[in-house]
Amino acid sequence: MPERGAVTVSTVRSLTAACRLPRLETRMLLEQALRRPRAWLLAHDDEPLPEAAVQLFLEWVRRREAGEPMAYLLGEREFMGWMFEVTPDVLIPRPDTETLVATAQDIIRDRPAVRVLDLGTGSGAIAISLALMCPDAVVYASDASRAALAVARRNGERLNAAVQWHQGDWYAALADVEPGFDLIVSNPPYIASEDPHLAQGDLRFEPTTALTDGADGLQALRAIVQGAGAWLKPGGWLWLEHGWDQAQAVRALLLTYGFAEVGSRCDLAGIERISGGRR
Ligand SMILES: C[S@@+](CC[C@H](N)C(=O)[O-])C[C@H]1O[C@@H](n2cnc3c(N)ncnc32)[C@H](O)[C@@H]1O
Repeated sequence: MPERGAVTVSTVRSLTAACRLPRLETRMLLEQALRRPRAWLLAHDDEPLPEAAVQLFLEWVRRREAGEPMAYLLGEREFMGWMFEVTPDVLIPRPDTETLVATAQDIIRDRPAVRVLDLGTGSGAIAISLALMCPDAVVYASDASRAALAVARRNGERLNAAVQWHQGDWYAALADVEPGFDLIVSNPPYIASEDPHLAQGDLRFEPTTALTDGADGLQALRAIVQGAGAWLKPGGWLWLEHGWDQAQAVRALLLTYGFAEVGSRCDLAGIERISGGRR
């Protein structure tokens, strides 16, 4: 790659040829740095590029080579067909979480004025998707992180989703909200603090408080299950995303706290990814 600050004429073709990243990633970073679509890159691949865009691209390539997730470099990630802003203050929404959204949609679809709560909303991906898919639902979302909530609010405004945002620790964030939810969903931090994966791959760059409960991985799930009874209507549902090996433990928690119709659903990889029950 040309050195930063070196006097060379860079083109799409020369930058692509010199870049060691996978071709798709190179193209995505070029598109974003140049603010041009793919068709433009193809049609103008021999044209000298603006120096500022070239330096930005080279900086992103260096950061990507150091392992930084593409979503943080690009500042966005697609979820359920919508593009969400992401920053290092929020978890990068995962395709796994679409299982939770699809299950929630099955429960609230075609029910007018249904009240839904998303606990630990991060980028707002779950709450906003539900608000857009079910416009008759009244959607609330909370997060302990003010910085995450700022990203969620911006996503809500940009995507024109009606969500009521609240900041604070799980249910304590809802001090001024009436109980009586038809559905509570959450993808809480569920990685045990000792899990070596926290020091690997994309997880190294994501907020620690979005990933781990700082304990056994079940602490946040336990707090949410324990508190849900007071916030759900009779017959209301609680559905939680959890780790690949936590379904049995979460079902046991739901049964302990008096939930009925307790069950789990698999993600696209066939792994029990969410568990839920009915108050
Ligand atoms: C795994 S991330 C999920 C983000 C988003 N819902 C998603 O699925 O992409 C967990 C979120 O829970 C939030 N969180 C962690 N501890 C919390 C607490 N005690 N109360 C409320 N939110 C909390 C984190 O800030 C983070 O945004």
